[in-house]
Order: sequence, then C-alpha cells, then structure tokens
Amino acid sequence: MSIPVVTCGLTARECVTGLEKLRGPVTVVRWCADLAEVIAVCQTGLARAVILSTDAGELTASLIERFRNAEVAVVALATTESDQHRLDSLGVAHTEADVGAAALAAIVEAAVKLAAEAPSPGIDSVSYADPAAALGRPATGPPLSGSESAQTEVGEVMAVWGPAGSPGRTTVAVNLAAELAAGGRAVLLIDADTYGASVAASLGLLDESAGLAQACRLADQGSLDLMGLNRAITRLAVRGSHLGVLTGITRADRWTELRPAALTKVLELSRLIADVTIVDCGFCLETDEELSFDTVAPRRNAATLCCLGAADTVIAVGAADAVGLPRLIRALADLEAMVPTATPRVVLNKVRAAAVGRGPERQLREAWDRFGPSRPVDAFLPADFSAVDSALLGGSVLLESAPRSPLRTAIAELAGVPIEQLRRSRVGAGHNEVKFSRNGVRLLGKGPQRSGL
Ligand SMILES: Nc1ncnc2c1ncn2[C@@H]1O[C@H](COP(=O)(O)OP(=O)(O)O)[C@@H](O)[C@H]1O
Ligand SMILES: [Mg+2]
Repeated sequence: MSIPVVTCGLTARECVTGLEKLRGPVTVVRWCADLAEVIAVCQTGLARAVILSTDAGELTASLIERFRNAEVAVVALATTESDQHRLDSLGVAHTEADVGAAALAAIVEAAVKLAAEAPSPGIDSVSYADPAAALGRPATGPPLSGSESAQTEVGEVMAVWGPAGSPGRTTVAVNLAAELAAGGRAVLLIDADTYGASVAASLGLLDESAGLAQACRLADQGSLDLMGLNRAITRLAVRGSHLGVLTGITRADRWTELRPAALTKVLELSRLIADVTIVDCGFCLETDEELSFDTVAPRRNAATLCCLGAADTVIAVGAADAVGLPRLIRALADLEAMVPTATPRVVLNKVRAAAVGRGPERQLREAWDRFGPSRPVDAFLPADFSAVDSALLGGSVLLESAPRSPLRTAIAELAGVPIEQLRRSRVGAGHNEVKFSRNGVRLLGKGPQRSGL
C-alpha cells in the first residue's frame, strides 16, 4: 500500500512532482504551509510520514515528540552540515535536498518501518514510567568520542518531590546536594519546579538566567552538548567543594520552557557530568490538560512526571503534621499510579512535638502504620526553624550556617555522608572540582564514590 505523506517547505514541495511520477511507494496527500498545519494534519491520521525541508521552520525535540505521538515518521531535507548535525542529534532521518525521487521514497519507507517498530506511546497512554520510551528513541548517542567515552561513568538521578503545602522539598534538595558535594561527589542540583522555583533564592543566587530553561532551549533545538550544559550551570562553592546548579524558571508562567523531551535530554547529559543529579520537583502529578484539549497540549506537570520517571531514586517529602501526613499518603498513591516504577524513600520533615504530640517520631510511626502505605518512613527530619531561617537569610546551606543543628545531621544521614567524612573533606578543599575535557566530558581521576542513597 502506498504511504500517505505530507510535505512542508519550498524545497520539499519541489520533490512532489518526482514522487508522484513514481506512481508507487508514496503518495503526497497534502502540501502544508507551515509546521502548525503539518502537526494538525498528522493528528487527523491522514499521513504516515512527513517530508520537511529546513525552510519549513525549526524542527525541535518537542515537535518531533508530537510527530511520534501521532505515529508519523519524519524525513528532513538538509544540505548544510550544521543542519545535518542538528538532525542527527535529534534522531531524525535526513537526506540531501537534491536527492532523487526514488531514493527519497526509499528513505521514507525505511523511516515508516522504523517508526512502526519503535514502541508507540499514543496520546492517551504516554507512560512516564519510562520517559525514554514514551518520548521515542533518545537522540543518537551522546557527543562523546575516543577513549574519553570509555572512561565516562553514568551518574544517578535523584528526584526530591512531595505534595502541595511546602513540605520542604527545596530545603531537602538543596541540603542533600550540599552534603553530597561536601562528601566528595560531583553534584548537579536542578530546579525543575514549574510552580514555585526557589533553589536560586534559597542559595542567594541573584539569577535571572534560568539555567535549566537555557539548557532545555538548546536541547529542544537539538544543539545541547556537554559544553552547552556546562555553560548553563552556575557553580557554587560549598565548604571547599563545588556544587553545580541549574536554576529554575524565574516566573511560573515560563513553565512551557520545560518540555519533557528537552528535560529528558538534559537529565541524560547531566548523568555524564555529575555523580549525582538532584532534581527539585514540583508537587502536582495531575494530567488533566490531556482531557481538556483535543490535541497534545503542553502539560505543566509533564516536567515533574518526566523527572520522576527518569529518577533512580525518588525522595518523597511530607510535612509531619495533621495536614501534611494525609496529603503525603494520598500523593504516594498518585505517584504509584502515575509512575509505577518509582520506589520512593519517605521522608517526614518539620517533625515536632507541638504538631503531633509528645514523642513525635513514635506518634508519627504509629499513625503511618495505621494509615500509611506499607512502605516504611525512611527518615524523620526535625523542625528547626532558626536553622533554616538563618540559612535562608544568608543564602547558604545548613552545613555552613548551622553545621551542628539536628536538622543538618539528619540530612547528612539521609545523604549517607558520615559527618566524620565531611570534616576530612574540608581539608582537601577543591578536590571535588569538576574538570572537563575540551569536548566537555567530565574527566575521571580522583573519582568520587557513589552516594549511599
Ligand atoms: N525542617 C524544617 N524545619 C523548619 N522549617 C522548615 C524545615 N524544612 C523546611 N522549612 C521551611 O518551610 C518552608 C517551605 O520549605 P521549602 O523547602 O521551600 O518547601 P517546598 O519546596 O516543599 O515548597 C520554608 O520557609 C522553609 O524554610
Ligand atoms: Mg520548593
């Protein structure tokens, strides 16, 4: 059966006559004026492939995700080396603009076959349990070369998440990151909260650049490499070590800049430069946008779902009081439904007798045993208002502003970093500096060990 194809772009249009003369493998059903029209046509199920030339407009990772969701194969016509390189990194089949009609038809056939073999998420069943599969194949391999790629380890991703009501996700994420960095690991802290990004403010960074949005923009264009990621990262000195930070969006209405396809690429690359990537996530897991739109609308909570799906470890933070506990229990049930692969570590924060009665840990454990899921509570973090307030006021982390506070000790324990080790690591100040080769790959050497989390 002939493959129905739509085309877009002037160069692509010039191929139509040649393809029609073949009277065979492909049938051009429509020439579209712009990419928005192509998407609309593809979503009606009219086409199984699209031929685009670079003059049609910019092909981004998010657009490609939408074609994949519509089960439409993409073939691009590109002549310049930079366009071809970009398409390679986006994982898009491409050929020279002056290709013959028969060769072009063969490429379309091959692309359609490949798309049919790839797992197809479908619009309603996008599974965030496996974002790589949900978003299609990852872009062709990381930009590594030679012996350096053989030396490169893949770091872990840890998502810090929790329900609405400010249970302390950012406080935990920032201080976990600081403890791990001070303990000798290369750490990247990412603020992916699409409702209330606050890592920059917590760390006293007067940041207007939204490092994560910058990295996502490059990833969407298919031009994010390790150097680009490196440029978007703000480096912070923490007690003789360095902590990398990708700051969050500066206004909540910029959430559309954090598309899951781009974020997935950022996380993929951050695994190459950091031993541990800690992601401060938004709270909400609802996907009701999918019910309100006929087409695939951008989803505000997709960033959170994408990070939770990609994470090796999820730290679920709840406030230890009469409102926070039931919220966390409900949120954990939602998490299980939305991201079934996640096995969260439960952390109760702001633990204090004034909120739950005498012997707060025992009270909370009993309540958890009666009402909570079978998963046990992994850590109780004490309420320590003066410690967190002084850290916030100074734009610093607990290990600097309140090193002896019980909250700091509890977070260091959660990080699996012995306090003794932290003392020793201060002596070797600077040993944790992340070094990059010329192509941006982290150079191993005095290799930091894996975290105990
Ligand atoms: N263990 C704690 N003890 C006292 N105050 C805390 C603690 N953890 C967090 N806080 C405070 O609670 C508020 C919300 O914390 P934050 O980390 O911003 O929450 P979220 O990121 O979940 O919205 C902040 O004012 C923070 O200083
Ligand atoms: Mg927060």
